[in-house]
Amino acid sequence: MDGSVKTFDIATLAPENVRAIAPYVPGKPIAETARELGLDPASILKMASNENPLGPSPRAIAAIEGALADLNYYPDGSGYDLKAKISAMLGVQPENIVLGNGSNDVLELVARAFLRREDSVVHSQHAFMVYPLVTQAIGATRIEVPARDYGTDLDAMARAIRPDTRIVFLANPNNPTGTFNPWEDLRRFVERVPPNVLVVVDEAYGEYLPDELKSPTPGWIARHPNVVVSRTLSKAYGLAGLRVGFGLADPSVAEVMNRVRQPFNVNHLAMVAALAALDDSAFIAKSREVNARGLEQLKRGFERLGLESIPAYGNFITVRVGDAGRIYQALLAQGVIVRPIAGYGMPEHLRITVGLPQHNERFLAALEGALGPRAK
Ligand SMILES: Cc1ncc(COP(=O)(O)O)c(C=O)c1O
Repeated sequence: MDGSVKTFDIATLAPENVRAIAPYVPGKPIAETARELGLDPASILKMASNENPLGPSPRAIAAIEGALADLNYYPDGSGYDLKAKISAMLGVQPENIVLGNGSNDVLELVARAFLRREDSVVHSQHAFMVYPLVTQAIGATRIEVPARDYGTDLDAMARAIRPDTRIVFLANPNNPTGTFNPWEDLRRFVERVPPNVLVVVDEAYGEYLPDELKSPTPGWIARHPNVVVSRTLSKAYGLAGLRVGFGLADPSVAEVMNRVRQPFNVNHLAMVAALAALDDSAFIAKSREVNARGLEQLKRGFERLGLESIPAYGNFITVRVGDAGRIYQALLAQGVIVRPIAGYGMPEHLRITVGLPQHNERFLAALEGALGPRAK
């Protein structure tokens, strides 16, 4: 056979819904930016992926160093120790827990375990991109509910649920808008949702909430077995590169999710690091403090520049800059990477991850330069 003749486009074998997936666009990596601009990677400031500017928990680093010699063994596929730790921390049973390769994995496991092509999924406008992505991967129908003041409109979400709806995804706080729905409103929402519809509450940024807004959702699962809570160690715990997150669910739901989970989806170093990081309360306290101050610093900076930002509850803040594509490029030219969110239907906004004080200062100066002379 003549190898040069292409007689069949093999990629067309992938189902239409898979070929229509718009791939997730992550924050621009430092190395790529440095290459393109001919700059030293050390001079680049990345505030684009909601990573922890303090680095990983030092306890996690020490734990990983101590575990390197065990890498010839497969990880504990049951995640016994990590589940025991999470159980003790959150007052749930190990049977309530599903471990994920990042919480992204947990979101995908819910969809893979419960969603069929003929079902629908409800999520908000400007919600985290992974919800439409996992829905599209199954070929199910997506119902996008208009946002209210950039945030999740719970009444409209409840009204949007149809008889074929299987999952409602929502993040609290939400990414990329940083908005927050009071837990009491969410509890009332859950009361309204039919018991045959899963409500996935994605709490990737929950650790950044002030004490008085601490999430009560793990306590809801016993009364509402259709609630799934998703958490991650990527943000406040500083372990984004290791990929570890977890879901909390009714044991029957967790059991089904575990059936579609890869047997070793969380690697050994990730589990060892997670165990140590969950114990590192000093690191979490510092992460929260640095974040709260950084949010204030950025908010004040935006006010000074006459820019409107959305009230922020996570480790990032979303600001309206006008032609966000142009400002993004002008910041990039100064070695500062932020996140354009036109793909989330917000072409005039940029999302900025909170940095250390000197990062925030450098970003604000670069932003002022990028905006140029303007009437305030
Ligand atoms: C709302 C939300 N959920 C989930 C994730 C996934 O995070 P990870 O897979 O690192 O746990 C993110 C990451 O940015 C997020 O913003």
